[in-house]
Amino acid sequence: MRTYISFLTLFLSVFSFSFAQTTSDIPEVQALLDKMTIDEKIGQLNLVTPGGGVATGSVVSSNVEAKIKAGNVGGLFGIAGPEEIKEAQDLAVNQTRLKIPLLFGSDIIHGYKTTFPIPLGMSASWDMELIKHSAEVAALEATADGINWNFSPMVDIARDPRWGRIAEGAGEDPFLGSAIAKAMVTGYQGTDLTDPKTMIATVKHFALYGAAEAGRDYNTTDMSRINMFNEYLPPYKAAIDAGVGSVMSSFNDVDGIPASGNKWLLTDLLRDQWGFKGLVVSDYTSVNEMSAHGLGDLQAVSALALNAGLDMDMVGEGFLTTLKKSLDEGKVTEDDITQAALRVLEAKYKLGLFEDPYKYIDKKRAKTDILTQESRGFARKLAAHSFVLLKNDQKILPLKKNAKIALVGPLADNKNNMLGTWAPTGDPQLSIPVLEGFKNVAPDAQITYAKGSNITNDSVFAEKLNVFGMRAEIDSRSSQELIDEAVANAKNADVVVAVIGEATEMTGEASSRSNITIPEPQLKLIEALLETGKPVAVVLMSGRPLAIEDLNALPVDILQVWHPGIEAGNAIADVVFGNYNPSGKLTATWPRNVGQVPIYYAQKNTGRPEGAEWSKFKSNYLDVANSPLFAFGHGLSYTTFEYSDLKVNKASITMGESIDISVTVKNTGEYDGEEVVQLYVHDVVRSIAPPMRELKGFKKVMLKKGESKSIKITLSSKNLKFYNSTLDFLAEAGIFEAFMGGSSNVSEKVEFELKK
Ligand code: BGC
Repeated sequence: MRTYISFLTLFLSVFSFSFAQTTSDIPEVQALLDKMTIDEKIGQLNLVTPGGGVATGSVVSSNVEAKIKAGNVGGLFGIAGPEEIKEAQDLAVNQTRLKIPLLFGSDIIHGYKTTFPIPLGMSASWDMELIKHSAEVAALEATADGINWNFSPMVDIARDPRWGRIAEGAGEDPFLGSAIAKAMVTGYQGTDLTDPKTMIATVKHFALYGAAEAGRDYNTTDMSRINMFNEYLPPYKAAIDAGVGSVMSSFNDVDGIPASGNKWLLTDLLRDQWGFKGLVVSDYTSVNEMSAHGLGDLQAVSALALNAGLDMDMVGEGFLTTLKKSLDEGKVTEDDITQAALRVLEAKYKLGLFEDPYKYIDKKRAKTDILTQESRGFARKLAAHSFVLLKNDQKILPLKKNAKIALVGPLADNKNNMLGTWAPTGDPQLSIPVLEGFKNVAPDAQITYAKGSNITNDSVFAEKLNVFGMRAEIDSRSSQELIDEAVANAKNADVVVAVIGEATEMTGEASSRSNITIPEPQLKLIEALLETGKPVAVVLMSGRPLAIEDLNALPVDILQVWHPGIEAGNAIADVVFGNYNPSGKLTATWPRNVGQVPIYYAQKNTGRPEGAEWSKFKSNYLDVANSPLFAFGHGLSYTTFEYSDLKVNKASITMGESIDISVTVKNTGEYDGEEVVQLYVHDVVRSIAPPMRELKGFKKVMLKKGESKSIKITLSSKNLKFYNSTLDFLAEAGIFEAFMGGSSNVSEKVEFELKK
C-alpha cells in the first residue's frame, strides 16, 4: 500500500511538473530558453546600474562590464546616449554565448531632456491629450538616446502631502489617476512597441506606496482591502488594462509582507486576477531591503521574491548571488527561474531587440529628435495648462505688458529649481527662469529684479536640499539687506510679482516634510512687500500641496505653478501677462494645516458629521475646521463661470444602461477661458459606507467671453460599481446624487435611481 502511495505521489509530482512547465508562446523566445543554462537564465534577471546618473540607493553596481560579458546582466539603467549604449550592447551581443541583447531602462518621469512640469502639475491640467502627448515626446527623445524601457508612470494615490513623492503622481483620486495612467502608458508605448520611437512603460510602485504612514518615505502601509480595492488599486489596474509592459514592486509592505516578496500582490492579484503577462521588476535594492524589514537573509528574501512572482532584481544582486544555491536546496524551482527569464526575454522580443539589438541606437536621431523647438513649445503649453489660480480676489492678474514690475523672490531668477524633482535627464541650465520669461513675453515692461530672501535661512536644511546640486543657496547678504532691496524696487513699481515656494528637492524621493508651510524668510518678504501698499501677486512653486493659511490670509493673489519644467519662465509669463488664461484644477487637496492630514475630498461621512458650527460630540477639531483650504478640483480663472440647469435625461436606469447628466456653463467674465467641468456622484445608501462624493467624469471646455454651452457627461452604470465587504465588484440598486460643477465643493445636485 505504502509503495502504491509513494508511486502515486511520484507520478503526480512528475505529471504536475511537466504540466506546470513554463513555455513561451513566442517561438524565438522558447528556442532561446531551450538553449539556456540555469546561470544564463539567472543572469537575465539581473538589472544593474553603473551609477553616474542619480542613484537612489546607497549602492551602485560594480564590475558592470565583466558582468555583462559573463552573461550576468539582463538590463542596464542609468546610462544614455548612442555611444555609451552601443558599447554596452556590443558586450552583450558580441561577447556572450547566446548574444542576448540588453534592455536599457531609465526614469523618465516628466520628460527626457525636454522637461515637462512635475506629474502632479501635469495632472492639474486635467487634459488627457496633453498628458498623453507628454509621454509620446518623452518616448521620442529617450529612444533617440538609446533607452527602451521607462520606469514611469508612477500612479501611487497620495492623500498625504507630507510625502515628498506626491510630486511624481497624479494626486489623490482613483478615477482621474486611472485616466492619467492610461494616457501615459499609451503615450509611452504607442500602438506598436517595435516602433523605435516607443518604449516599454512601467507602472509603479506596486502597490500602495503613496500610503506610507505619516507621509514618511518608505514607511509601512496598512489598509483595509476595501480601501485598497476602491481607492488605491484602480490606477495600477488601469495601466495593466492599457497594456503596460512592466510593473515595479514598491518598497513598502502590504499586509506585513514587503511588496517585492508579496505573492498575493505579485501573483494572485496581478497575474491571476488581473491577467498581467509582462515583466515585474523590483525597486532599487528592494529585494535586499526585505532583510532590513525582518524577512530573513539575502538568500531567503531573494527566494521569497522569486516565489512571489518578481522577475528582475534591481541593483541588489540577490538573485544573481543566491538563486542557484536556493535551487540546489529546493527553495526555488528551475521552472520559477525559467518563468522569470521568459518574461525578461519576452519584453526584449516585444521591443524587436532580437531582430535588431541596435534599433534604438541612431546618432542621427539623437541630434534631430531631442530638445526640438516643437517639443519645447509643447512643454511651454503644457506648463501653462498645469497652473492653478488659487486665489484672485485682488484681481491683480493678468498684468499689462507695459507695466512697471518689481519681480522678486528666491525663485524669480533661478534655473536650478525649475525642473522639479526626478528630472536627472534634464539640464537645469537649459531652463528658462521667470525673469527671462517676463522679458521674452513683455519686452515693453519695465522690470526690476531682487532676490528678496533665501528659500530657507536654515543651513542644515539647505544642505539636505543640495545633494544633487545647488538648489537652496544662502546669500552672503543678511535677510534685512535682501528685503530692503526688494522693498525699494517695489516702491518704484506699479505691481509686485513674488516668486516663492519650495526648492526642487523639498519634494521627491526621501524628501518628506513634517511641516509643509512656506519657509519663514519668504513669508516675511511678502509681508514687507505688502507694507509698501503695492499690489502683490504671488507665483507659488511647490511639488506638493502646501499649508498656506497665513499667506492666503494676506491681500495677495496666488498662482500655483508647481515646478514647471524647462520652459518655466515663458509659461509663467504667458499666464501672468494673459496670453493664456489659467485653467488648472487641483488634483490633491490643500489642507489648512498639517494636522488635518491625511485629507482628501472623497471622505466618508462619520456617524457624527460636523455641523456648520463647532459642537461637542461631533467629528470636528477644536482648533481648525474640517474643510480644506483649497478643495480637490479647485482652480480659478481670469474669467468667471456660472453653472445652471443641472439635469439628467432620465429618472432611472437599470444595470448596463447609461445616463446623461448635463449642466449649462456660462462664461460670465471678461476673458475667454477654459473650465474643467467635473461630475461627482454620491451613492446614498449602500452596503458599505460610501464616500460623500466621488469623481465619475470630467470635461475640459473652452468658452468665449459671454458664451454658454450645455455640457453633457454620460455616466455608465458600470461606473457605479465598487468593491463590497466580500470584495465583489458590483453596483447596488438605489438612489444616487450627481453633482456637476467647477470643483469638488459644488453643491448643486440632481438625483437618479439605479434599478435592479
Ligand atoms: C525609485 C524608483 C526608481 C528607481 C530607479 C528608486 O529609488 O523608487 O521610482 O524607478 O529608484 O531609479
